[in-house]
This record gives sequence, C-alpha cells and structure tokens, in this order.
Amino acid sequence: MTYDAATTRYDTMEYRRVGKSGLKLPALSLGLWHNFGSIDPLDNQRKILRRAFDLGVTCFDMANNYGPEPGAAERNFGRIFKADFKPYRDELILTSKAGYTMWPGPYGDWASRKSIIASADQSLQRTGLDYFDIFYTHRADPETPVEETALALDQLVHQGKALYVGISNYDPEQTRAITAIFKDLKTPYIVSQNRYNMFDRTPEESGLFKTLTEEGQGAVVFSPLAQGLLTGRYLNGIPEDSRAKRGISNHLHVADVEAKLGKIKALNAVAERRGQSLADMSLAWDLRKQPVASVIVGVSKVSQLEDNVNALQKLDFTDEDLAAIDKILKD
Ligand SMILES: NC(=O)c1ccc[n+]([C@@H]2O[C@H](COP(=O)([O-])OP(=O)(O)OC[C@H]3O[C@@H](n4cnc5c(N)ncnc54)[C@H](OP(=O)(O)O)[C@@H]3O)[C@@H](O)[C@H]2O)c1
Repeated sequence: MTYDAATTRYDTMEYRRVGKSGLKLPALSLGLWHNFGSIDPLDNQRKILRRAFDLGVTCFDMANNYGPEPGAAERNFGRIFKADFKPYRDELILTSKAGYTMWPGPYGDWASRKSIIASADQSLQRTGLDYFDIFYTHRADPETPVEETALALDQLVHQGKALYVGISNYDPEQTRAITAIFKDLKTPYIVSQNRYNMFDRTPEESGLFKTLTEEGQGAVVFSPLAQGLLTGRYLNGIPEDSRAKRGISNHLHVADVEAKLGKIKALNAVAERRGQSLADMSLAWDLRKQPVASVIVGVSKVSQLEDNVNALQKLDFTDEDLAAIDKILKD
C-alpha cells in the first residue's frame, strides 16, 4: 500500500536546536542499530519507520555497520525509503557513520581519509540517498592524525555528500582537538553523539556536555533506555523476543538484567509516582540536560515507539524526583 504521511505529524513532537546551529532535531530520533537487519521482518521495519514519521520523528540514525549483517540496515532503509519516503526527503534528517569494522583489510575501519570517504560512498549507495544530513566519525582513531579525519569529513561536505558533520564517542579532550580544526576549516560540525542514560552518566561526569555547550555544539544521545533495561521490558522476567534473550548483540546480556533488576524496580516505582512509564521517565531524564537536542531510541515494536513518544507529555522533574533517582543510582 502506498504511504501517505499523517497530516498531524507535526502536531505534538518537539524540535530542539542543535547547539548554536540552524538545525533542529526531533526530541526523539529513531535508531536502526537493531531490528533493521536481514534477520528482522521488513514489514515490521516499514511499520516502525512509517509510524515514527507520522509521530513527527524526522531523524533516522544509521551507521555503515548496522545489521546484522553489516550494511543490512542501510540497505533495508534504502528499500523502504525508495517505496515510502522519497517524497518526504526534505522533511527528513538521515544520518550515517563510519568508524567501526566494515570490510576486511586495513581500510574498512577507523577514521583515515581513505576509510571515511570510501565508507560514506558505500553508505550512499546502500541507502540510495544523494547525501546524508549528518555524517559522523563513529569513534576517535588513535592512529590517524585528527586533522586527517576532520579534513575527510570536511571534504564530504564540499562534495555535497553531507550537509553537517558530527563526531561520536569522542572524550572531551578529543572533542576539543577536532573542534579547533573544524573551526579553522569552517566545517559545519554541529553535534556529538554519545551514550547517556541513568546507568551511564559519562558525558555529564567527564565534562563532555560542558565542553559541547561552551563550544556551541549539541548532543544527540544514544541508548537512552540502556538497551531496554530502563523500561518495563524486564520487570516481569526476560521475554524470549527481548534484546537480552535474543543474544544477537554482545552488548546486552541476561546477566546485566539480573544485576540491575533491583534498581530497575525502584526506578519504576518513581516513574509510577510521576504517572508515566519507566521508559518515558528515562527519556525525560535525558532530555532535561543541556545540551541534549535529541535522544535516539531503538524499538522492536510500534507500541514501544508510541510509548516513547509519550515521554514528551511530562518532561519536568521536581527536586524530589531527581533526588530519589540519584539515591537509587548511588545505592
Ligand atoms: N554512536 C554510537 O556509537 C551508537 C551506539 C549505540 C547506539 N547508537 C544509536 O542509538 C540508537 C538507539 O540505541 P539502543 O537501541 O541501544 O537504544 P535504547 O533505546 O536504549 O534501547 C532500545 C531497546 O529498548 C527496548 N525498548 C525501547 N522502547 C521500549 C519501551 N517503550 N518499552 C519497553 N522496551 C522498550 C527495545 O528492546 P527489545 O528489542 O528487547 O524489544 C529496544 O530494542 C541505535 O539504534 C543507534 O542508532 C549509536
């Protein structure tokens, strides 16, 4: 069936400016790391993408290696984009990244000029897009000079293959180093992408958020739900179809659920008192923090996406709520 986007798609979503740039992102973006591989039903992928856009989620986050197998998520997105989203291209922020292992040999990894340019070209080919709205270096490369990585990203912009560039998983010192070069080059570098959730407050504690705010960049944060731990997903056991049980990623294990269950239940009680789901409280908690422009959620079902968008209905926290959360996290 052909897709006509909902006419109500801009009615409830909030759009936040990314640092001091001209770009606004939806408070919630959708990530394609999981659930968009070749093992995942294409029909479910299509339903999730359509519903997301209908709810005002205008940003879809990809990377060269998302799958399984690496490349599959971009390919699947490309198919759905061609069938459903082409007429809406100018309403979408489509992002990709290079930096994790993608093809064999010394060039399919990290952040040399060779790797970044080749990877961006491959990602454009897989998705069928003419350009990415934001193209990221996925992780800081300890061997490549930072000038080389910055110049490669800058070149993508000059070639019309990226409108903006971003960095991901850079610490504050690496961030300051590459920011200085982007400034000299006048590269439209606007955003840093990092993990941030109640169980991992690194960007807050390391000073990264402070650095970004001072420099005028925005933050887009990933795994805001700690891959599902900070939701109701594991409150009553470990479902067979859950990320922890499916075991297709080595990132979330049943042991993680077991280790965190006490805190998850205590946090859920706070969320209940606030009158929202644990997922919604977790997203609101991320969105309370400067300079977070958008949280990238992953979902395996349309119902999860709908739940997550409801977070926007209650973003404020009382001092008591925040203190109760801090106490649970510290205990
Ligand atoms: N730059 C980087 O290095 C990097 C790294 C990681 C991720 N990312 C980006 O961030 C995106 C999100 O990461 P993530 O998938 O780890 O995020 P997440 O939002 O923390 O976790 C997603 C998982 O949580 C569960 N979930 C989501 N909403 C739920 C709800 N309302 N109720 C119950 N369970 C819910 C689902 O698990 P089930 O599958 O069990 O249903 C879903 O697959 C990725 O897709 C990617 O785009 C970037």
